Amino acid sequence: DASTMARVALLCLLASIGKNLKSSVHAGVGSNVTLKTPIQDLQSSALFWHFYDGKEIITVASVSSSTLRLNTSYEGRAWINAANGHLTLGALTQQDSGEYIITIVYKHGQSDAAKIRLTVSEPVSNVDIKSNVPDAIEYNSTVILTCSAIGSSLSFKWINGSAPIVVDGTRITEIKVSSTLTSSSLFVFYGPDDVTLTPANPPKFIQAGSTFNLTCSASSLPPASFTWYYNGTRIETSSSVLTLDMIKGYTKMANYTCRAENPKSKRSVPSPAVSFAIMEGISSVEIIGPTGFLIASNSKANLSCQATGGTVGKVDWLKDGKPLGPSSPRVVFAADESSVLISPLQKDDNGRFTCRVSNAVSSKEAHYNMEVIYGPEQPTITAKKAVEVNQQVELTCSAASVPTANYTWKLNGTATTTTAAVFIIASAAYKDAGTYTCEAHNIITSKTTSTSHNLSVQGEGTLDGLSDGAIAGIVIAVIIAVALVVVGVWCYCRQKVP
Ligand SMILES: *[C@@H]1O[C@H](CO)[C@@H](O)[C@H](O)[C@H]1NC(C)=O
Ligand SMILES: *[C@@H]1O[C@H](CO)[C@@H](O)[C@H](O)[C@H]1NC(C)=O
Ligand SMILES: *[C@@H]1O[C@H](CO)[C@@H](O)[C@H](O)[C@H]1NC(C)=O
Ligand SMILES: *[C@@H]1O[C@H](CO)[C@@H](O)[C@H](O)[C@H]1NC(C)=O
Ligand SMILES: *[C@@H]1O[C@H](CO)[C@@H](O)[C@H](O)[C@H]1NC(C)=O
Ligand SMILES: *[C@@H]1O[C@H](CO)[C@@H](O)[C@H](O)[C@H]1NC(C)=O
Ligand SMILES: *[C@@H]1O[C@H](CO)[C@@H](O)[C@H](O)[C@H]1NC(C)=O
Ligand SMILES: *[C@@H]1O[C@H](CO)[C@@H](O)[C@H](O)[C@H]1NC(C)=O
Ligand SMILES: *[C@@H]1O[C@H](CO)[C@@H](O)[C@H](O)[C@H]1NC(C)=O
Ligand SMILES: *[C@@H]1O[C@H](CO)[C@@H](O)[C@H](O)[C@H]1NC(C)=O
Ligand SMILES: *[C@@H]1O[C@H](CO)[C@@H](O)[C@H](O)[C@H]1NC(C)=O
Repeated sequence: DASTMARVALLCLLASIGKNLKSSVHAGVGSNVTLKTPIQDLQSSALFWHFYDGKEIITVASVSSSTLRLNTSYEGRAWINAANGHLTLGALTQQDSGEYIITIVYKHGQSDAAKIRLTVSEPVSNVDIKSNVPDAIEYNSTVILTCSAIGSSLSFKWINGSAPIVVDGTRITEIKVSSTLTSSSLFVFYGPDDVTLTPANPPKFIQAGSTFNLTCSASSLPPASFTWYYNGTRIETSSSVLTLDMIKGYTKMANYTCRAENPKSKRSVPSPAVSFAIMEGISSVEIIGPTGFLIASNSKANLSCQATGGTVGKVDWLKDGKPLGPSSPRVVFAADESSVLISPLQKDDNGRFTCRVSNAVSSKEAHYNMEVIYGPEQPTITAKKAVEVNQQVELTCSAASVPTANYTWKLNGTATTTTAAVFIIASAAYKDAGTYTCEAHNIITSKTTSTSHNLSVQGEGTLDGLSDGAIAGIVIAVIIAVALVVVGVWCYCRQKVP
């Protein structure tokens, strides 16, 4: 029949349309699209819009002599622009996808045709990634990530951070596009990696009771659990920090290691070992020495240095801050230096003795003041030999002695009332001249030594120093004398050497 004939004609037309006249339009479900015609002036032509969905051809609309006909099934969702014939389709559904054929019949009988491919696609939504395993474990797990989405003509692209994921054949073996797709953003349990101890190089000896800590750390997800070993033997703690308190009683030099374990993968990695020994610090030191009187040349002294707490590493003896060496046969150290015997004592042994006890972790010292009794030695008197009458005179006597000597004075062999080191004559008289004798007495050694000094008392003015005028006179006299000598020598030379 006629309509079948028309369809066949249209299909032939469709097949004959050149590529140039083809165009394609994409639109989303629910949107509006306007399919355009190349017509400038519709007045002079008739126009048909047909739709071909691959099965049958439907007449959508026609315009002829300004009469517009729309297929009833398109009413309300298709509009024809009467001026240019453009077809607007509204609220698109996927069923609107297909070819739209426009046929123009010009007044003089010629005709033209074009087709437009409309693709109505559903927008992408509900994009989701699923993993085949709940928890991925580093090294162990093979993970299949599946991406799913709603939408038509979907294509998938996998991204790790901002970089595309590529099949490397080793770790990423396949990216498949199928109804369910493989790949995602992923939560991988890893570690423990980089298991380290802090400090990595502790001192060889650690003072017992100090705040020293060993800290074990590892990079791990979930966080690692820790176990500690002492020469390979387990220490009962699961803390990441090993305090000295936890290894109380362990003192020997040993290797300490920590193992970090990932609780998920059960993978366990040891830290490098650190080795140290724990040592008690010296808590106190004292010097035990003689307590009675020590008499020079008679007594001896055994100084014993006693330390409590800790291991004694080294004992140093000092006297008045300087190392005490076995400088003389009188000074003998015990083999372990814990005591020193000085025999016999001499006056030079007076002073402050120090014993310094140290070990790898601490150092303590004690002091002992040695007082060796000696003397008095021969005193010396410091005074003028001659004074003028009415001058003040001081005679000072001193004699080396421990304890300090008492002094008494005699004049011309007769005792005076002065019992001090200094004999003072407020105003000298002629009768004060004579032989002054100072006697030094040591109350403990009961020794007395003495020395004498002759003092002469002279008339006023006789011992005056030279006046400024006299000095000037002498200087001038010397200059003149030198001048005369020079002149004399010059004259002499002139005579001898004409
Ligand atoms: C499509 O066109 C119709 C008529 O012009 C309009 O009422 C409607 O809002 C349009 N829809 C969209 C999604 O633009
Ligand atoms: C109008 O469209 C319907 C389908 O939407 C179709 O079955 C019918 O044949 C069309 N009418 C004409 C005259 O082509
Ligand atoms: C993802 O990116 C990280 C950081 O760039 C990289 O270390 C990792 O190997 C990547 N993973 C995959 C599966 O490409
Ligand atoms: C050692 O660890 C303890 C307990 O973790 C902490 O209180 C202390 O401050 C740590 N000491 C040092 C020196 O890090
Ligand atoms: C730890 O090992 C070292 C070397 O093998 C050994 O000298 C030390 O005595 C050991 N310490 C303990 C407490 O066993
Ligand atoms: C610690 O370990 C090292 C190497 O394993 C070994 O040479 C050393 O003797 C060990 N030291 C102690 C104190 O165990
Ligand atoms: C990981 O693999 C190792 C060796 O292949 C295995 O011993 C271990 O049990 C595995 N861990 C888990 C959690 O499957
Ligand atoms: C010095 O005293 C200490 C402690 O009393 C003692 O052990 C040591 O033998 C004494 N030395 C001598 C030489 O008497
Ligand atoms: C020495 O002097 C002290 C105090 O100055 C005194 O107690 C002592 O008796 C004196 N000894 C002699 C022997 O004069
Ligand atoms: C001591 O002797 C000298 C002469 O030797 C004499 O001049 C002086 O007066 C005497 N002094 C006393 C106090 O006897
Ligand atoms: C002091 O004078 C006497 C005689 O007057 C003399 O014998 C003695 O040697 C003199 N002493 C000193 C230290 O000069």
